[in-house]
Amino acid sequence: MRDLRPCVPRPARRTLVNVSTTFQPETLRRVVELAGRAPSVENTQPWHWRATRAGLELHADGGRRLRATDPLGRNMVMSCGAALHHFRVAAAALGWQADVDRVPDRSDTSLLARIELRPGPPSERAAIDLRTIAERCTDRRRFTSWPVPGEVLQHLAHLASAQGTGAVPLLAVTERVRAELLVGRASERQSADPLTAVDRQVEGSDGLILLSSGSDDAAAWLRAGEGLSALWLAATAQGVSVVPLSEVVEVAETRQALRHEVLDGLSHPLLLVRIGWQEISRSQVPRTDRRPVDDVLDCAEPCAEPCAEDRDAESRVPTG
Ligand SMILES: Cc1cc2nc3c(=O)[nH]c(=O)nc-3n(C[C@H](O)[C@H](O)[C@H](O)COP(=O)(O)O)c2cc1C
Repeated sequence: MRDLRPCVPRPARRTLVNVSTTFQPETLRRVVELAGRAPSVENTQPWHWRATRAGLELHADGGRRLRATDPLGRNMVMSCGAALHHFRVAAAALGWQADVDRVPDRSDTSLLARIELRPGPPSERAAIDLRTIAERCTDRRRFTSWPVPGEVLQHLAHLASAQGTGAVPLLAVTERVRAELLVGRASERQSADPLTAVDRQVEGSDGLILLSSGSDDAAAWLRAGEGLSALWLAATAQGVSVVPLSEVVEVAETRQALRHEVLDGLSHPLLLVRIGWQEISRSQVPRTDRRPVDDVLDCAEPCAEPCAEDRDAESRVPTG
């Protein structure tokens, strides 16, 4: 395998990487672009990356929060968490390990993470991961009636949990039925006209996974977003579709009911996701737009000129 280390000399010991000179600008832009493929509530893409001489920061862009349905910013921060996980996966695929300090400054509520980057070999799954990021999308077509096996749901929930969030597959009939009813009730509450409420968002054969946490704060929301991304990328790689159902958590009444009737009052529900198989390939689903990198990446200090070795980092990812 070729040596993928960038051409700029790096500190021998692990230190905060100087993003603007060591993590080459073109690589940074490419990783931010790939992170931007992450799912976000109503495609708001509420993230902002700031590269300084001290490191890289992820901020929530509060101006993109959905004021009516997301007063606390729960979905906004979960969306940023999904982008953070996409960033980590993309960076690893291009040979960079991202060490993350989450919610590092409680006095700065927009600052969600400081990221330290260390060079390393590209992840073994680099080619698959890059392909999966490109393929992932929200495919809202009706799922087939072929149920997703419990073991697949367990596995996906386990991958989400590994990101530091709670994730439980709803396998028992009683908890499934409760969740289904609550989804319907949330839709009625949220809809100005009950007749237009979507009465059946969950079919009997759909898989359901509930993301939750012991606390209901920005750190928990960020982790839940990372868990959502991990679950979703793995599902995509297996040909399984994922559709979040955020209304049931947005509506206070159904959020409380989910907490007490499904989670036994032990943790806070953060996002319910529906999992299933599609009949036809998702490559036919039109892709949603993304903001240009220049809108979401701010180099607080001028970024160094890219060097030749950096320019084709991605072309050197082994195909797998
Ligand atoms: C926190 C969060 C909540 C979401 N809630 C819903 C939802 O309630 N219903 C839905 O159909 N999609 C939901 N989505 C999916 C977004 O609408 C979708 O990611 C966005 O439109 C971008 O499209 P893409 O996923 O195809 O790239 C949610 C995504 C996130 C990250």
